[in-house]
Amino acid sequence: MGSLRKKENMEHRNLANLKVPVVGMGTSRTFDVSSDSDIAVRSKIINSCATSGVTFIDSSPMYGESERVVGLSLHGQRHSFQLATKVWCTGREQGIVQIDRSFQLFQTDHIDVFQVHNLVDWRTHLPALERLKEEGRVGVVGITHYITSAYPEMMEIMRTGRIGAVQVPYNLWERDCESRLLPLAEEMGIGVIVMRPLGRGELVTGLKHQPDLAPLAGHGIHTWAQAILAWILSDHRVSVVIPASSRPERIVENAAAGQCGPLPQELWAHVSREAERCL
Ligand SMILES: NC(=O)c1ccc[n+]([C@@H]2O[C@H](COP(=O)([O-])OP(=O)(O)OC[C@H]3O[C@@H](n4cnc5c(N)ncnc54)[C@H](OP(=O)(O)O)[C@@H]3O)[C@@H](O)[C@H]2O)c1
Repeated sequence: MGSLRKKENMEHRNLANLKVPVVGMGTSRTFDVSSDSDIAVRSKIINSCATSGVTFIDSSPMYGESERVVGLSLHGQRHSFQLATKVWCTGREQGIVQIDRSFQLFQTDHIDVFQVHNLVDWRTHLPALERLKEEGRVGVVGITHYITSAYPEMMEIMRTGRIGAVQVPYNLWERDCESRLLPLAEEMGIGVIVMRPLGRGELVTGLKHQPDLAPLAGHGIHTWAQAILAWILSDHRVSVVIPASSRPERIVENAAAGQCGPLPQELWAHVSREAERCL
């Protein structure tokens, strides 16, 4: 009953024409596993996602076994999830083969968000993804990059009106998207998927002091990871954050950041100050 209540409390926002939960899950490294016991843990993670409302999952052929393990772990729950993946290769033929393989590995005939990973050969892949969108096999076409020097090129593509989603890093340490890319996304109605929201975990493991979380308790924020995610989600231009985890209990922990609503300005500033003091 408790988990049902949490699931229903998850905030949803627009990502182009989709409604997505504000807390989703990434799978880089964490889903690149192959033993039966490791895959069994991923099934538990997917179940935690389902019961916590973390129903947006991001993958890529770059993440080794991730797409296959996501597909296996869904166990008939495909309809409860929105799946995002990427094409990450050069050449038209290779692109078509890789895109086709993602449908097979996810065990689905529809992929909600299909992105060009790190803009690799994007001029070649965009037409193929646009065709799949026209056919109704892809929901939203997007682009990703993890390096800020790629933002000018990303913004050029955004201005063409051909894409519905961008995926970029955004966290207490990486704020370059705030000044130009996010305003353009808002202006164009382009959804924003936030990669690396916990700085690959280093924003949590790198603490030199314990942050003061007491002022956030009334908001349902009890851990530093939750504070970081809630801080990012206080930016209304963000559609979804996708923290990755190899531990089912952390899915539930991270989900709580999507169930508290945007932080009031004074609490947002408190988290910024605590990051300065403790990291
Ligand atoms: N170019 C691209 O398109 C691109 C680039 C980078 C990332 N991405 C996407 O963005 C996703 C997220 O980025 P990321 O995986 O690099 O980094 P991240 O989500 O910022 O951090 C993941 C790390 O945080 C730890 N973690 C998760 N929840 C935690 C919690 N509540 N408390 C403490 N530690 C916690 C995890 O460790 P445990 O496993 O021990 O929980 C994991 O090591 C990726 O998985 C991928 O889907 C895309």
